[in-house]
Amino acid sequence: MSDIVFRFGGEGGEGVISTGELFTTACARSGLEIYTFRSYPAEIKGGHAMIQVRVADVNILLSRGGTADVLVAFNKEAYDRHYKELRDGGVLVYDNTDFLPDEDTRTIKYPIPFNKIAMEDIGIRLTKNMVALGALSELFGIPQDKFKEICREKFGKKGEAVLQKNFLAIEAGVKYVQQNVKKADSLRVQPSGRQPRLVLSGNEALSLGALAAGLNVYAGYPITPASTILEFLARELPKTGGSLIQTEDEIAALGVVCGASFAGKKAMTATSGPGLSLMVEMLGLAAMTELPLVIVDAQRAGPSTGMPTKTEQSDLMMAIHGGHGEAPRIVLGLTSVEDCFYGMIRAFNMAEYYQTPVIVLTDQALAQREASIVKPDTSHLEILTRRLPTAADLADYQRYKITPDNISPMAIPGMPDGFYSATGIEHTEAGGLNYEPANHGKMIEKRWKKIEGVLKQPWITKNYGTPNPEVAIIGWGSEEGVIREAVENGNKEGMKLGAMHPKILWPFPTEAINTYLKGVKRVVVPELNYSGQFAKILKQNLQDRNIDVISMAKPGGIPWSPAEVLAQAKEASKHYV
Ligand code: COA
Repeated sequence: MSDIVFRFGGEGGEGVISTGELFTTACARSGLEIYTFRSYPAEIKGGHAMIQVRVADVNILLSRGGTADVLVAFNKEAYDRHYKELRDGGVLVYDNTDFLPDEDTRTIKYPIPFNKIAMEDIGIRLTKNMVALGALSELFGIPQDKFKEICREKFGKKGEAVLQKNFLAIEAGVKYVQQNVKKADSLRVQPSGRQPRLVLSGNEALSLGALAAGLNVYAGYPITPASTILEFLARELPKTGGSLIQTEDEIAALGVVCGASFAGKKAMTATSGPGLSLMVEMLGLAAMTELPLVIVDAQRAGPSTGMPTKTEQSDLMMAIHGGHGEAPRIVLGLTSVEDCFYGMIRAFNMAEYYQTPVIVLTDQALAQREASIVKPDTSHLEILTRRLPTAADLADYQRYKITPDNISPMAIPGMPDGFYSATGIEHTEAGGLNYEPANHGKMIEKRWKKIEGVLKQPWITKNYGTPNPEVAIIGWGSEEGVIREAVENGNKEGMKLGAMHPKILWPFPTEAINTYLKGVKRVVVPELNYSGQFAKILKQNLQDRNIDVISMAKPGGIPWSPAEVLAQAKEASKHYV
């Protein structure tokens, strides 16, 4: 094997996602690299659920892949939706007690009566997904014991009787294939012989990053797709001595975070677009009082409730500009599961160092993506904390003192001589209220100027591919791997493609981008929103007005594929003169 894309589809609530998750873990424990994408309805039961699992024995997977090599269709709807994306010569594994596919010779078809076996041999319909896993085990060579081991871990809490039924279902799937199916394809999922891979979801990696950064206090209100951060930290944060509170809403959540930060703690919240809207007023207070804090926005398709279980990158403008009275903030975009870990450390470091709110943008596809990653090396991590006042500072303490870098020493309540008032009202360097226009001008400039320092950080952008490209691709956030794969594939075909991926979105990395684009005539900007938000900001900040910005924007649901990005880059290079 080298690289195989499996796609599972069926009725929501009938265990499709569990099938993909068990399959993913079994492959990772066989030393293989994995990368998943899931799309499911907002309802607990009903609608269509799908999960795609890319499995490979190559080094690192950058995207969910393109067309599927194997489609496991639990029902007719899954067949209708996904069959056209099964590659020619691919394998359709389907439940022939639910539907019969068209008779064509484009693909290899294995009919397996999942439902019938689950109902008649096992007596529980929900076990049809285990029948499917048994069948896949026999068809593609993943040892059934791996599935049983993981099934025990996942469903063990449901009791031994449930487990035994599931084991019987796996065995029944194996037996059915042995007795009734003649393998006609050459696909095998061969264990790599390497160590089992570390598999994390984006939200798990992000939560671990927050813990590694020294998170003390988390406050939040559940909202898809951010809820698993709250769930993960509710289990793990108390073990490190930290505190977690589920508040009555998002306004209260940011209120708790502001209070904790004022009290000297590293604090964060996580939400999605509708929750960030609610937090915006309090964000102004955090900017005005110069509180270090981190807000994660796991974006989903909107506006309003929108499509809460589908991905989108449509909160960029709100993250950058949302608010009143020009409230400064730093905005970072997380780019991969691995980057979720390191990106959160950067977020806390920047929040603490610049004493400012940091908004971290992720999205449903990345939050719920599972990927194999290299175990993070925490031995060299630099963890920053806020600047504390010295004895000299405390002799005449001014909380908002204007310093050469505009960052003022921040006292912790209880510190002798460090008393100050932190108000949302405009204030002097000492913290006393002041309505003079001149003072306001001075203080607002201080608050904006101090965050500009972040643009000197070495990590703010990352480049891939040809250094002086004919066509450049600049995306942001979770599209990094897709773009990187498109660039690699294009350059293998002899193109001169390059990409820059900014990890900082605000303050906008104007200088870095303009330097990179010197000599480039066309830049393609793939992103997942309707109006091309990043492309618009890029255009505003280009020094060379002759650069052609080709916005490649589509509203949420399904991320771009490397093939789509490459096709657009090829189109752009055609007219290259
Ligand atoms: N044996 C025992 N239990 C099994 C099983 C088996 N063989 N196969 C599945 N199950 C259980 C799962 O454990 C899960 O139970 P749980 O709810 O107690 O965890 C349940 O059956 C559903 O299976 P699962 O594989 O998790 O999901 P699915 O593919 O059937 O799809 C979802 C269900 C994910 C679509 C749905 O539950 C969901 O979460 N919808 C989104 C809700 C949401 O976030 N809405 C937005 C609100 S704003």
